[in-house]
Amino acid sequence: MAVLEIKTLGEPVLRQQTQPIKRVTKRISRLIRDMLETMYAAEGAGLAAPQVGIRKQIVVIDVGDGPIVLLNPEIISREGEDIDVEGCLSVPGKKAYVKRAANVEVEALNEKGKPFRIKGEGLLARALQHEIDHLNGILYVDLVDEAEIFSEGDE
Ligand code: NI
Repeated sequence: MAVLEIKTLGEPVLRQQTQPIKRVTKRISRLIRDMLETMYAAEGAGLAAPQVGIRKQIVVIDVGDGPIVLLNPEIISREGEDIDVEGCLSVPGKKAYVKRAANVEVEALNEKGKPFRIKGEGLLARALQHEIDHLNGILYVDLVDEAEIFSEGDE
């Protein structure tokens, strides 16, 4: 396993479209493990493949309840509204309050390529929306005014 380099704001790969996973090859399995290790090493709650320079639809999340792996994730329903503070490993040291759906349901494949659905609320709903945005080249800083972005510690 390996800790991968995390790309930061300004790197083109964060803005590019991603490819769906057709088959979970050994290489994809290794990438998933490396992404989990990278997320934990960086103390993040989620990581998407473009953040490690890979244009594929892979997301890993752990909001404190153990790792979740999502391949080709798609939000199939969203409900309510929630505003809370959010950061991103690709925008180090910065945070902002971001409006998101309060509840989402997501359809995806797991690390073995098996379809599943997951419902999230609170932090999990936020992480799902944030990471799936990454697969479409969207960062949370696109969803707020620049003046709303603050430095960590200035809260
Ligand atoms: Ni992020």
